[in-house]
Formats: sequence, structure tokens, C-alpha cells
Amino acid sequence: MAELGVNIDHIATLRQARLGIEPEPVLAAAIAEQNGADQITIHLREDRRHIQERDLRLLKETVQTRLNLEMAAVTEMVKIALQYKPQTVTLVPEKRQELTTEGGLALRTEHRQLITELQQAGIEVSVFIEPDNRMINMARELGADAVEIHTGHYSGLKSAAEIQQELIRIRDSAVLIKELGMRVAAGHGLNYHNVQALVELNLIEEYNIGHSIISRAVFTGLAEAVLAMKQLIY
Ligand code: PXP
Repeated sequence: MAELGVNIDHIATLRQARLGIEPEPVLAAAIAEQNGADQITIHLREDRRHIQERDLRLLKETVQTRLNLEMAAVTEMVKIALQYKPQTVTLVPEKRQELTTEGGLALRTEHRQLITELQQAGIEVSVFIEPDNRMINMARELGADAVEIHTGHYSGLKSAAEIQQELIRIRDSAVLIKELGMRVAAGHGLNYHNVQALVELNLIEEYNIGHSIISRAVFTGLAEAVLAMKQLIY
């Protein structure tokens, strides 16, 4: 049974549009958890465009499942993670001008120290990378506990043949990640239509999904949107 991480960044995006107090991410997290979320995922960006440090603090206190903090692999963010100690940190690439996380993190040997520091504080470390053997082996060498496969390319494809080819790449990557003893997650661009084929691979242990759930929630309410996604992930 795979697990669902609900990314609630867009709740904070809406609040920041007016720099006000609603909608409240803490409330969104509680509703998501009550409707089947196994984890709450947030991205504290360096430019603080949506999630704020205050959200991280309150969510760490109130989330009853697990809190997964996505963040850039930089010293400033490591300091913050060590202060709040989420259950998991997912290291992601970050560029100021991007609309959302574009592409996977290019792992380098310098990341080893930062990964170790987080782990010594009892935080599980996941790395968000492309389904690429070289990067997966590097994740193992650097001591990562988990790998989140970037599914952005997969979710952008239109032709059946290309989708099939990318599914094979993701499947082979998931097999390798597990063989190397790491937990395998996937995320980015997943929705109610394209997640099914990944679930059928029966290899991915966790999905982190935000945009499509929050978009559906605008029309159906968050409870129903989370529940519907949870039913697709078995
Ligand atoms: N996983 C990671 C590592 C991400 O950076 C994001 C986007 O913030 C997601 C999952 C969720 O992507 P989406 O909002 O497209 O579902």
C-alpha cells in the first residue's frame, strides 16, 4: 500500500496573494490528514513566496502523521530544518525565477555533509532527482535514506509511446533505488489521470501531490479531493 503526501503550498500561495490570514495551512493539513493523507508536504522556498517559517513551526506542532519539508540544499535552510526537526527533509533544486521546481537536484559530493548533519538530528533525508541511474547511485553514495523520483517529464508527455518509454525509465529507477536499500517516492505534476499507471508498477512507496489536489479542492472541497486521490493510490 503506497502512501499519499499532500503538498499544501498552494493554500499558502492563496493566503500570500493578500498577505492575510486565510486560508490557513494548518487547517488544510488537518483536513488532509482526516481524509487519508499519510504525510503533509511543504516547500519553504528561499524567497518565501508561499509557505512561511511560521507555517513550518505550527505544522510541526500540529501535524499528526509526518511532516515532509522540501528545501534547497543550502546552509541557511539546514539551520531552519535543525531548529524545527520535521520527520523528513526532501532536498530540491531551487531557482528564483521558476514557477515550480524544474528538474531534479544535481547531487554533488558537497551534499554529503549536509545530509549527514540532518540525519544526525534524527531527520530522514530524501533527494528529489530525475529517474537517472548515475544520480540514483550518487544518492546512495551520499547516504540518502530515500529518493523522490521527479515525474515532471512523465506528466508533461502526450503520446502513448513516449509515456510508455518514460514509465519504463521510472520503473527501472524504482527497482534500482530499492535494490540500493533506499525508500522510493515520486512526485511533481501527478494528477487523477496520470497517477494510475505509476501505481500499477507496484514499486513506488509514496506520492507527493499538490497542484492537482488543491485545484480539485476549489470545486469539491479539500476533504473530497484528498479522499479521491487516496482511493487511486493503493
Ligand atoms: N514533490 C516535490 C519534491 C516538489 O517539489 C513538488 C512541487 O512543490 C511536488 C512533489 C508536488 O508537485 P505538484 O504540485 O505538481 O503535485
